[in-house]
Amino acid sequence: MDEATLKKRVYKFDPFAAVPEYIKVNRDLVAVVNSHVPGGLTGKRIGDIACGLGLMTKLACEIASPASSALMDRSDEALELAQQELGPYSGKTGLEFHVADAQEPLPVKPGTVDVGFLGNCIHNFARKAEAIKYAKEALAPGGLLAVVSTFFEGAYVPGTEILWQRWITRARRIIQEKHWPFEGQKERVQAGKDHWLSQQKYCDLMTENGLVIVRTELQTVELKQNALEAIAEFNDFAQGALRPAPEYLQTATAALKLAAGEIFQGLKGVNAVTAIPRYWMMVIAQKPLQPQYAETT
Ligand SMILES: C[S@@+](CC[C@H](N)C(=O)[O-])C[C@H]1O[C@@H](n2cnc3c(N)ncnc32)[C@H](O)[C@@H]1O
Repeated sequence: MDEATLKKRVYKFDPFAAVPEYIKVNRDLVAVVNSHVPGGLTGKRIGDIACGLGLMTKLACEIASPASSALMDRSDEALELAQQELGPYSGKTGLEFHVADAQEPLPVKPGTVDVGFLGNCIHNFARKAEAIKYAKEALAPGGLLAVVSTFFEGAYVPGTEILWQRWITRARRIIQEKHWPFEGQKERVQAGKDHWLSQQKYCDLMTENGLVIVRTELQTVELKQNALEAIAEFNDFAQGALRPAPEYLQTATAALKLAAGEIFQGLKGVNAVTAIPRYWMMVIAQKPLQPQYAETT
């Protein structure tokens, strides 16, 4: 099966996108972005890069009336779902959908985006600096870029590291104990793909690309068993976590789901813990105004 068919068949981010804690933390972060845009997001042109189901645009539309949003994702299935999700807002906000790789020049006119979102996606990119460079190109002078992720160096709340490691080792053990056929990826993982950077390193990348850091944010989110089971269904996550050969992706997902159940069973048994805290980070940076309009005092 070729890669495009496989991606189409397995794209399954909708379960995690529906987890209330996921929606809430992103809603809070979009509200922070809104507070940094002069006049808020109403009337602004959004670039929702690697949009998935269009959550960033949807949350922006909940609190404001953006003029438009250009939604871009490499998965056409994600874009179809985003189109459905955003149906209720299509009357008041101009929506366009593009299949696009965030690490390449974006399919929008340079200098036309007031607020760009790289929501919950940049950790998956092999070429993170390019993604920032092309997002910056799309921004209008003075425009903002918000990078959001929970897969970054420092995402584990101190004391919980062991649980996240145990989740992966348990999943591997389940595959062995159940004698499920399983093979790892044969092709080499692109350098940088699924590589976690620290929040500071994201700030550095943005600064190196000529953006000015406006705000950094770190929020704590309590993730319950259903959240871990839902993220296990997402192809990019299961691939990054267990690195299965494409035909064993469903096996990886099944093992991760069972392992999540075991982890929480163990936690409940010992000390009635029902959620694991985790940090979510955001960096907001601004594209400088053209030099002739910059203030001198
Ligand atoms: C975890 S989802 C997040 C979606 C959404 N931005 C949100 O915050 O809910 C990550 C999305 O990134 C997309 N993606 C991954 N790599 C990409 C790339 N190189 N270019 C464009 N989209 C990409 C995936 O298809 C997926 O829809």
